[in-house]
Amino acid sequence: MYEWIKALHVMAVISWMAAMLYLPRLMVYHCKAEVGSVQSETFKIMERRLLKGICNPAMIVAWLAGVYLIYEGGWIKSGWLHGKLLLVFILSGVHGMIVRWVKDFAADKNRHSERYYRIMNEVPALLMVGIVILVIVKPF
Ligand code: HEM
Repeated sequence: MYEWIKALHVMAVISWMAAMLYLPRLMVYHCKAEVGSVQSETFKIMERRLLKGICNPAMIVAWLAGVYLIYEGGWIKSGWLHGKLLLVFILSGVHGMIVRWVKDFAADKNRHSERYYRIMNEVPALLMVGIVILVIVKPF
């Protein structure tokens, strides 16, 4: 059972990361679209569907499966897990920021520049590098 849940966990994590990497990238282009234009309205639909259809459910499944793995695997006292959880909490915080940005764009009230979204686009990628090294290499 453990291996099956781990497979589910990795599938959910891949979907979550794909959405987390793509949403800020969409926003880089959304910034350039004039408010009220057909392009801007299309970006709104793309952002909403990606967030609600993939990003949110994938995060929930990744967390549920991950918590199961912690208990079943007896990892609760492992150093690598504590490091991973710290990074995953930050990743979940970035997820919350993305939710906020999608809502802002939906209301035509974007508060950030194209450059901001370009920089924020790198954050989930950097966190993912740390998370994968911690869980695969388990350096401590
Ligand atoms: C959402 C909260 C998360 C929790 C609670 C969690 C917890 C865990 C646990 C306990 C394992 C089992 C480790 C093992 O059996 O060796 C695992 C496996 C794994 N996790 Fe997570 N994880 C989470 C999110 C993530 C994220 C965001 C990523 C990648 C960006 C990730 C990537 C992986 C990978 C690749 C494995 C398979 C490791 C292996 O088979 O050796 N996890 N996770």
